[in-house]
Amino acid sequence: MEEKHIQILKDLGYNLDQKDMTNDYWKKRGAEALAITTQDRDVYGCLDHTVGEGVTIFDIEGTEYLDVTGGVAVRSFGLRYKPYLEFEESILDVVKELPGMDFDAIPQTLLAERVAGVTPGNHKKRVVFTTSGGRAVEGCMKSAMDLSGKRRFVSFRPAFHGRTGYALAMTSSNSRHKSGFPQGVDVIRVFYPYCYRCPYGTNVEDCSIECVEALRYALQVEGDDIAATVMEPISGEGGLLVPPAKAVQGIYELTREIGAYFMSDEVQAGMGRTGKWCAIENHGVVPDYISMGKGIGGGYPMGASIGPSPMFTGGSRHSETFSAEPKMSLLSLWIFKHMEDGDFLKKNAENGAYLLKRFNELKDKHEVVGDARGIGLMAGIEFVKDKKSKEKAPKLRDQIVKNAVQKQKLWILGCGQNVIRFIPSYVITRDELDDAVDRLDKAIEASV
Ligand SMILES: Cc1ncc(COP(=O)(O)O)c(C=O)c1O
Repeated sequence: MEEKHIQILKDLGYNLDQKDMTNDYWKKRGAEALAITTQDRDVYGCLDHTVGEGVTIFDIEGTEYLDVTGGVAVRSFGLRYKPYLEFEESILDVVKELPGMDFDAIPQTLLAERVAGVTPGNHKKRVVFTTSGGRAVEGCMKSAMDLSGKRRFVSFRPAFHGRTGYALAMTSSNSRHKSGFPQGVDVIRVFYPYCYRCPYGTNVEDCSIECVEALRYALQVEGDDIAATVMEPISGEGGLLVPPAKAVQGIYELTREIGAYFMSDEVQAGMGRTGKWCAIENHGVVPDYISMGKGIGGGYPMGASIGPSPMFTGGSRHSETFSAEPKMSLLSLWIFKHMEDGDFLKKNAENGAYLLKRFNELKDKHEVVGDARGIGLMAGIEFVKDKKSKEKAPKLRDQIVKNAVQKQKLWILGCGQNVIRFIPSYVITRDELDDAVDRLDKAIEASV
């Protein structure tokens, strides 16, 4: 770390110098001070917050990594993207201490119009801004309860919608997130359409969407007084599952049949990642509610609940002190504009198709790669003991992640029980995608 950055810490009252800049020192100190990090300290180093550009990040010892996580889908344009920094500099003197949502301000109103304009459907929409994806999910859920007068929800297994109250009740991707905590709302849970391991034993080409029939049966026997069906258009945390459009359409139609709302959780898959503003558009469905997060804030904490007007009728039904303050809103407006100016939807679709082709090459090459799937820049590989048995290989996956990070210097994330995912920033080039896949290839070879 450069001296000037150490000096900043010194000026803040910390007696630190170069010799303290080691991964072990900060991982130990972090383990004592931080109640939790979601990732494994045996695998990852301590990130250097003072350097990095595009898809290149560094740990505190100066080791360089190629990042395919995009800060878990947060950094749409990578680290310290010059045009973004220039815009940010131009608005440095904007008053940022005006919390959004309590009072009107121009930037948040323009942003609400923008968000409503790019999300699917020509119906009248309204927007509530939040400070996280989970809160965005909850904003939609609360409105769905308000407008329907119903209190129960349909959700899936696996599913990830956040770690707070109502959102946690929708989540089921890892028992560590949930066990011991009471459910905030009543949920009817059915299997997420997972064609590689279809729970009903069929395959996608000739299936009769048994997953939709399973939901119909669940509603018949458990009751169909449902406020909303809450679904990820691609299951991210749960294992990078890409449902077939016919299943999503079937679930949507059934939801409408019982008079419930359909909600697409776009926190991870949205913001143009799949080549469409909302990933649900890939399935030909126009949802009633949409939750957005991560990339919409361009590195700042922001989410959005988008719903049918009037959404919340009474004042104060939902709000957050720090949502959509002016600077964040202006930055978000810039991101939307830059996505269009730079044709990033098209680029993401094309680069994503290329990435999937490369993943399929790994599938052809390695017996332990059971499946490769994805849309746009959201793609994953599922690891198995062998292709025939399809037995899940969670330990092998963990070893591959460890080798990728520590030996190949590829900053990568797992998801589900035996899957790895690429959710890179949109500025990633073909060469960088090739480099990343080659490094992953070597990590697989070294782990089997
Ligand atoms: C689909 C989905 N919904 C909601 C969330 C929760 O977002 P946050 O961590 O910002 O609350 C996530 C986070 O990974 C997500 O992937």
